[in-house]
Amino acid sequence: MTKSISRRQSIKLGLTGALAAPLFEFNTLIPQRKSLNILILGGTSFLGPHQIEYALSRGHKVTTFTRGKTQPTVHQSLFNQVTSLIGDRENDLNALKSGQWDVVIDNSGRKVEWTKKTAELLKDKVELYIYTSSTGVYYPYLTNDIKESNAVLLTEPENPKEEEKLEYWYGVMKANSELAAISAFGEDRTIVVRPTYMSGPADKTNRFIHWPLRLSRGGDVLVPGNEDDPVQYIDVRDVAAFMIHLAENKTIGTFNAVGPNHPQTMRTFVRLAGRTFDAKHNFVYIDDYSFLRDNGIDYLVPWIPTDGNNYGSARVNNEKAKKAGLRWRSLKSTVMDTYSWWYSDNLTNEQRAAYEEQPDIVLNREAEIINAWREKSK
Ligand SMILES: NC(=O)c1ccc[n+]([C@@H]2O[C@H](COP(=O)([O-])OP(=O)(O)OC[C@H]3O[C@@H](n4cnc5c(N)ncnc54)[C@H](OP(=O)(O)O)[C@@H]3O)[C@@H](O)[C@H]2O)c1
Repeated sequence: MTKSISRRQSIKLGLTGALAAPLFEFNTLIPQRKSLNILILGGTSFLGPHQIEYALSRGHKVTTFTRGKTQPTVHQSLFNQVTSLIGDRENDLNALKSGQWDVVIDNSGRKVEWTKKTAELLKDKVELYIYTSSTGVYYPYLTNDIKESNAVLLTEPENPKEEEKLEYWYGVMKANSELAAISAFGEDRTIVVRPTYMSGPADKTNRFIHWPLRLSRGGDVLVPGNEDDPVQYIDVRDVAAFMIHLAENKTIGTFNAVGPNHPQTMRTFVRLAGRTFDAKHNFVYIDDYSFLRDNGIDYLVPWIPTDGNNYGSARVNNEKAKKAGLRWRSLKSTVMDTYSWWYSDNLTNEQRAAYEEQPDIVLNREAEIINAWREKSK
């Protein structure tokens, strides 16, 4: 680690630079900065391989820390340039005891205790801690224009409804993990990034793949929700580039990593995404939430019903991140690249079939649901 100027001074200098220079100008006009030694906790799943690709392209060095179980489904060839440390966040951090890094990115945080332990272990060996959090910390989303300064969820309610338990657990885990990182590293050495639903190549959640697959085929396309329901999502590669950019500039703080740039409705989303393909679409909007739920459609990312606790889930403010350098690629490139990845050799037929052949996914029930909707609307 370079210590010619104090940590606090370098953070201040980095912050000024970040605010003055948008990401893409920064990439092209300003010479490469110091090569960073980056440790990624995780790194082989969805977000990690894109962070690695971007970090290597910027001249940085990368080390990952995993159990050695998850295999990347993008950028596999780059992993021979990455140092791989093996351990377990649950009970084996030995591999982290001997190294020194400029930045640690905590992608694999699943328990507050995990972040607490790694942050404590690394606080004198690493300059910056970047915690990958989530907009889930704002659950229940009861307001408009949710900013980073809004209250976060620190405790679970006593008797949550069954269907809300996971949301409460996740939000509380992420919010307290953020605090665990800050408690060990201090506010002036911690960056927190809160992405909304991420889409793009290597997504193991299979939450977004519905749209590239469906829109490539054309015909009657079921669109859940009101045409004007807001939607938010972000390409995983934009989150990855943003995080490395924050590290390079030591831009300290908490940032909602949310797209698209401007507010978008579900109607605009399907129209824009549909243009990725030559196919002709007839969008069939089903705006009756009860009907959707009765037919097993509780959500279809990026569409989330905007009632109850989810009112503001797609109403999160992204201004602060934009000022710090977050940039968004086109929806068309997200849809096309995700589609191409899905049919690439990076996935096996079995992996594709494990999703496509599930009888209960909307893709396989769509015609039947549209028919039922048309019957109901007669
Ligand atoms: N997907 C979204 O839309 C979304 C939205 C907002 C925020 N986020 C957050 O974004 C982050 C990144 O997500 P992701 O999908 O890329 O990765 P992830 O599922 O959070 O993490 C997987 C990575 O962690 C490693 N790992 C898992 N258990 C481990 C353990 N016990 N010890 C050490 N390493 C372990 C895995 O490798 P091994 O299996 O080999 O150990 C793999 O590299 C997460 O924190 C997630 O909560 C995601």
